Formats: sequence, structure tokens, C-alpha cells
Amino acid sequence: MTAMWSSIIGLILLLLPLAPSSSSYIKYQLGGEVYPTGRFFVVMKIGEPLTPYYLDIDTGSNVTWLECYHPVHGCHGSPGVTQFYKPALGNLRVDCKDPFCAALHADLRGTNPQCTREDPHQCHYEVGYVDGESEGVLSNDTVSLAEGNNRPMVFGCGYNQRPANPSQPPNQTPVNGVLGLANGTVGFAAQLKKQGVITKNVIGHCLGMTGGGYLFIGDYKFPPNGIIWVPMRKYEPFYSPGQATVHLDGQQIYANGMSAVFDSGATYTYMPSRIYNPLVAKVVDLLAGAAEPAKDDPTLPHCWKKPKSIESFDDVKNTFKQLELRFGNNIVMKIPAKKYLILSKYKNFCLGILNGSDLGQDQRIIIGDITMQDMLVVYDNERGMMGWAHRPCTTPRL
Ligand SMILES: *[C@@H]1O[C@H](CO)[C@@H](O)[C@H](O)[C@H]1NC(C)=O
Ligand SMILES: *[C@@H]1O[C@H](CO)[C@@H](O)[C@H](O)[C@H]1NC(C)=O
Ligand SMILES: *[C@@H]1O[C@H](CO)[C@@H](O)[C@H](O)[C@H]1NC(C)=O
Ligand SMILES: *[C@@H]1O[C@H](CO)[C@@H](O)[C@H](O)[C@H]1NC(C)=O
Repeated sequence: MTAMWSSIIGLILLLLPLAPSSSSYIKYQLGGEVYPTGRFFVVMKIGEPLTPYYLDIDTGSNVTWLECYHPVHGCHGSPGVTQFYKPALGNLRVDCKDPFCAALHADLRGTNPQCTREDPHQCHYEVGYVDGESEGVLSNDTVSLAEGNNRPMVFGCGYNQRPANPSQPPNQTPVNGVLGLANGTVGFAAQLKKQGVITKNVIGHCLGMTGGGYLFIGDYKFPPNGIIWVPMRKYEPFYSPGQATVHLDGQQIYANGMSAVFDSGATYTYMPSRIYNPLVAKVVDLLAGAAEPAKDDPTLPHCWKKPKSIESFDDVKNTFKQLELRFGNNIVMKIPAKKYLILSKYKNFCLGILNGSDLGQDQRIIIGDITMQDMLVVYDNERGMMGWAHRPCTTPRL
């Protein structure tokens, strides 16, 4: 674990924001990868003195928060986290009656606490994730958006994290928090727009197949070629182009379409068991004789030994068939095998599509990082459109 940390710390200098302060977008280089880190993160300097923190980029969440040491409540951090943001009490005076607090509670959609008697002048919130819950209060503190461009931003001081499954080993590379990039009214992008840092609430990410990549927020001129644009579904809490059917090797897996959502906070792709069960059966069926199961590999539920015919990861397509998500209007998202498999440390190929029903996700297909690798994904909250294009992500093109 220490080794992991030191390699991450070496990245700090490389990952600080790229955009000049005069542009109407900010752009960050990403660290991390699908496996083994399991997340993509930005490094942001926050607080006084400005201190770098690692934030998991999460298009499925409306609140940005840091693992935090609260001056009164202390802290109960996520397992493995050792560095905490330490605001002064003065930073935590976002009143629970402030419209900002009410707006955050609306964005979080949960049953959030009203003004509490112990801290009537702080804004408490709670946010649930598939793998746990986080509780905190809002802090108003300096965030460095780019060299020399420091702004007051409001984000969570998360002082009580409760993992859903505490018996699981802590993540190998803990981050210090979450950068919430869903379409919240007081989210990170909305605050930047309100302050005039960006002119448009547009978010895009490109997650590198070999790790890294970039994230932009604002009016960034990305190369428009090849982007498939689809209206975002309204009243869906996550970014969604609508219903999709799932096809493997050209064959439809389940009769009905299911709402598909893009969630950069999910490492893997999740399918409800109605789709997952027949999909796994079909994968196994198509592999008959070509690859042997690796039953003792604990990395993920379904792993196969590397067949002799596969020399590099690029060859997986010869053995593992292409998956497709078909949306309305003949829009097809092609998912070649390298966007649904990982090569585990035991040198087996493991299926990076997991059973959503195990996490209570029975109604949605969640398109996670693994499937979004080497793809530019753009969420245009101004026009209510989202788009994607296959392209390499590791060399940012300006
Ligand atoms: C945060 O602090 C800035 C000044 O530093 C202030 O202008 C802004 O209103 C504060 N935001 C909230 C929600 O309290
Ligand atoms: C995103 O948020 C804006 C502002 O709150 C809203 O007008 C828009 O409809 C939202 N987009 C979607 C797809 O819900
Ligand atoms: C984020 O906030 C927006 C606006 O309040 C809301 O429509 C959406 O459902 C929220 N999404 C999540 C994931 O909570
Ligand atoms: C997927 O999860 C559901 C609910 O936990 C379970 O009933 C089903 O058997 C699981 N499918 C597989 C293939 O493990």
C-alpha cells in the first residue's frame, strides 16, 4: 500500500490543472486506471494553505466532498485514508437556512437532516453510494482551479464515512474525496458557472485505456469529429441517453430495453440480473473450448485463463466477442472485449461486467469506467445533450 501511495504522490506535479486562468473552461489531467486502482482522479489544491487532494471523478454524484477532520465532531474516515482536510470552524458557517443548503438537499434527493439543534448554523448532509454512505457539513473554502486562479467554493467536509461492507479490504489507493459532476443545481460545475469561471455547464471526460486521460469542465473546444449526440433523458438522476438493449456477437441478450446511465464513479459496468445472468451464460457458451475458467482467481466473479492464442491484451477480440448497447434511432455503442475485460494480476482475463442486482441496481444498466475507456464522453447540460466518440485518451489533444 505504501508503494502505491508513493507512486501516486509522484503524480501530483504532473496532474495539476492545464488550462490558463483566462479561458472559460478548466481542464485536468487524470490519474488512475480501471485496474488495479479502480478509479480515475484529479488532484486539486484546496484550503489554506493550499494542499493537494485526490478526488474521484463521479458523474453519478451531486456533491463534492473531502475526507475531513471536523473541528468538533472529529472524523471517522474511509478505511485506508490517512490525509484529512481540516477546515476551521469559520469555513463551516454555511447556514442551514441558506438557500444553498436547501438546494443541496434537493440535489441529494435523500431524507436529509433539517437544521439540527447542536449545529444550527451548519449545513448537514448525507449522501448514499452503492458502497456506503457519507455524512458531513458544508465548507466554504479556497480551491485552486489553475495556477493563480483561486476561488471560494462550497463543498462537503465529510467527517463520517460508513462503508456498506466494512469487512472488505480497504481500497488499494484511497482518494481523499469525490468530485461530484452530476447535473446538480449547486454542484461543482454550477458553482463555476455562477462565478463566471466557465460560461457553459458542459463536462467531458476521456479515460485512458492504459490509465490517465483528461477531464474538462466548461466551454472546451474538443474535436467534434465522430461524436454521436443523443438527448439526455429528463427526470433520470444520472446522465442517460435512454433505454438500450444488450447484444453479444450480434445476438440480443434480453428481450426488453433498460435505462442505461453513464457513471464515472463506477469502475465496472453493471447489468441487472435479468440481463447479467443470460449474458454470462452466453459469454461462457461462446468461449467453449477457447478459454478455460480460472475458478481460483478472486479478482472478479468470472475469470478465464489466458488462451495461448492471445499474446497481448489487444488480441482479446479474437476470442471474446463484441458487445453492443443499442439505443433508439439506430444508435449503437460498440463495446469491444477490451472495454469489458481486465487482465488480472494472476494473468487471467476477468469479466468487468458485474451483477447490478447484487447492489440493488435492478432497473438500470450502469456504464462504468471500464466501458468508457478511450472514449470522449461529453455531458452538455446547457443543451440537454450527451455525446461520445471512440478515441485515444492518453494524449490530450488541444
Ligand atoms: C462563500 O464565501 C464567499 C466569500 O469568501 C462568499 O462570497 C459566498 O457567498 C460564500 N458562499 C456561501 C454559500 O456561503
Ligand atoms: C440540468 O440542470 C439544468 C439546470 O438545473 C436543467 O435546466 C436541465 O434540465 C438539467 N438537465 C437534465 C438532463 O436533467
Ligand atoms: C442531481 O441534482 C439534480 C438537480 O437537483 C437532480 O435532478 C438529480 O436527480 C440529482 N442526481 C443525483 C444522482 O442525485
Ligand atoms: C445476480 O444477483 C441476484 C441478486 O443478488 C442473484 O439472484 C443472481 O443469482 C445473481 N446472478 C449471478 C449470475 O450471479
